[in-house]
Amino acid sequence: KIYKVMTWCLIVLSCCCQNKLLFFSYRRPGEPPLLKGWLPYFGLALKLQKDPIGFMRTLQNQHGDTFTLLLGGKYITFILDPYQYQSVMKNQKLSFRMFSKNILKKAFAIQKLMTDDELNNELHDCYKLLQGKSLDLLMENMTQNLQQVFEPKLFKTTNWDMAYLLTFCSSVIFEATFATIYGKSVAGDRKEFITELKDDFFKFDAKFIYLLSDIPIELLGDAKSIQKKLIKHLTSENLANIQGWSEVVQMRQDILEKYYTLKDIEIGAHHLGFLWASVANTIPTMFWTIYYLLRHPEAMAVLRDEIDHLLQSTGQKQGSGFSIYITREQLDSLVYLESAILEALRLCSFSSIIRFVQEDLTLPSETGDYLIRKGDLVAIFPPLMHHDPEIFEAPEEYRFDRFVENGKKKTNFFKGGKRLKHYILPFGMGASKCPGRFLAINEIKQLLVVLLTNFDLEIMDDKPVQLDYGRFLIGIQYPDSDVLFRYKVKSQ
Ligand code: HEM
Repeated sequence: KIYKVMTWCLIVLSCCCQNKLLFFSYRRPGEPPLLKGWLPYFGLALKLQKDPIGFMRTLQNQHGDTFTLLLGGKYITFILDPYQYQSVMKNQKLSFRMFSKNILKKAFAIQKLMTDDELNNELHDCYKLLQGKSLDLLMENMTQNLQQVFEPKLFKTTNWDMAYLLTFCSSVIFEATFATIYGKSVAGDRKEFITELKDDFFKFDAKFIYLLSDIPIELLGDAKSIQKKLIKHLTSENLANIQGWSEVVQMRQDILEKYYTLKDIEIGAHHLGFLWASVANTIPTMFWTIYYLLRHPEAMAVLRDEIDHLLQSTGQKQGSGFSIYITREQLDSLVYLESAILEALRLCSFSSIIRFVQEDLTLPSETGDYLIRKGDLVAIFPPLMHHDPEIFEAPEEYRFDRFVENGKKKTNFFKGGKRLKHYILPFGMGASKCPGRFLAINEIKQLLVVLLTNFDLEIMDDKPVQLDYGRFLIGIQYPDSDVLFRYKVKSQ
């Protein structure tokens, strides 16, 4: 125990020494209000993590829509006024790249992007292969892969069977997404390969938030060895044993081979980063979408009806299992299904849109211009907008049909009498907006169609599950505990 405490003291001390300005820095004239709390280095991080919405709202009432917080060794200026979002994002002195390169280095051990902008640009180009015709192809493969992942798990069931929801979502999403984006192993035992990869991935993901901190990876238990093992799984040599790469993976690999030697292990680090992005947020989104539907059977009934109508109108029967074929346009027409996913994202997304300040700059605000220092971070914090009662009536309530109006998608939301251009931002905005958002939403829709048309589903645990704010600022929050549900093939 003493050893543990001493290690922590050392970490904090070394972080403070590296950032000695954190002790002594003060607010200069013209800068936003600066709030540091009393904890050196950590600042207000612990308070914010405890109750992000409540605490931010208190700070907003006290200090207005723009203020700077000390959080885990970083000064972050938060922008809370949704009407400021766009002008902030357009500021050329704010850089997503400078911020993301650091994350890629810390979490995935990718070094080269720190120095090579060309590689960065080329990799960014690959994202077009997550849209349009390439997306259709991905979705076709996803349907098949969901079938393969799903059938042995659920189709045998004629009586009620029980499972933990988060474990279930993690497993299905990981396996189906990996098979769709990377393909299937042709070497050795395929099942053994994916099971080992999945287990290692979730061990790695559990450490993810610590990897982003200033704590050296060597002090994070087995984080380094798991990271290394995963990277090795995804090197060129090992990827050669995986068949069925998607276009996006093929293009990424071609680019990486131009910038690295084929044997370079860092190629695997790039693939690990992409794999992480493709599942880490989709899993909790899937969890919350199903969880709320399980707790609101009336919402589930409406969604079932909507899917039924579509199937009937296309001459397909409910319960025909995976022979159901639904195009992207047809999925898009399921407005209640989409609304239920958006509502889960509204409640559970705590992604901030963070930029690095490359040069001193001036940000306009309602109450005057603010000076922002080079080297700090600027963050847009959409969760406060997602929970704003002026925009969303009774924001703490789950309303599955919040994003439907007169049978159509509802897109008009207002604040201060003005219509908002952005009212839900789980995928970021601007140049760095998530390129996988269409795939993610469609994957969740496909999985829900399969579940709702083929199974009866019921929640078993009464105790409400809460958000665990362990990943606040960086994505969709995980639940604080797993939850039991039961499922049974529908009787025809
Ligand atoms: C519900 C699921 C998902 C959510 C909520 C989500 C959210 C996000 C967010 C918030 C960002 C950062 C944007 C910013 O800082 O401005 C991001 C980036 C990214 N996402 Fe997603 N994402 C999801 C699924 C996916 C999927 C399925 C893929 C890939 C197939 C993907 C690939 C990426 C990539 C590659 C980036 C980095 C973009 C860049 O470097 O410019 N995401 N995502």
